Amino acid sequence: MKKRKDYFFKKAKKEGYRARSAYKLIILNKKYNLIKRNDKLLDLGCFPGSWLQASLNLVGKNGLVVGVDITPIKEVKDIKFINADITDSLTLEKIKIICNKFDVVISDLSSKTTGIKTLDVERSLELNEKVLEIADKILKENGNLLLKIFQGVNFQDFLKKVKLKFKFVKCHKPEASRKESKEIYIIGKGFLKQKSS
Ligand SMILES: C[S@@+](CC[C@H](N)C(=O)[O-])C[C@H]1O[C@@H](n2cnc3c(N)ncnc32)[C@H](O)[C@@H]1O
Repeated sequence: MKKRKDYFFKKAKKEGYRARSAYKLIILNKKYNLIKRNDKLLDLGCFPGSWLQASLNLVGKNGLVVGVDITPIKEVKDIKFINADITDSLTLEKIKIICNKFDVVISDLSSKTTGIKTLDVERSLELNEKVLEIADKILKENGNLLLKIFQGVNFQDFLKKVKLKFKFVKCHKPEASRKESKEIYIIGKGFLKQKSS
């Protein structure tokens, strides 16, 4: 059955965003103040680009927005796009060629869902372990992180790991998320400089 086009879908169309998910970022940013003017921002899993569009509005002309996705995107003016898999070890090097340190890392990464909940949760966790690894290497001290994860059995252990790396950590399900979705966003503010990096 064809899904009803909801409020955020219509709003995105009207305001020129490529996807309704733009409002998840806009709402989260209003509440947690993650992205500031002139920030250097990295968006992992950025296709089709609505977070890139919203981020660009937030960082302004003197900021930097870099997006990574396995799927090529239609060009977004003033953003740098890397067509790569984040689990590939070379991807970090490709990012570093553009910018060595970022103020913010955001990730809306998700693999195609299989319908098998345990498998989808496991894949989401694997991707987010990689997000955390990349953020560890590329975030400035006091930088911010936003990531999406599907909640499952190992969620609390993952959350503990994030809590070790940031001064402030919070979980949030934004209004623009579909009610039936298991997705939740983790916000990490104030990246703590790692002794080994
Ligand atoms: C929900 S979409 C992102 C939507 C985006 N935030 C927006 O608002 O336009 C999730 C994206 O993660 C990407 N993705 C999944 N696994 C990936 C991986 N290993 N490396 C890079 N991108 C990946 C998918 O290709 C997909 O485009």
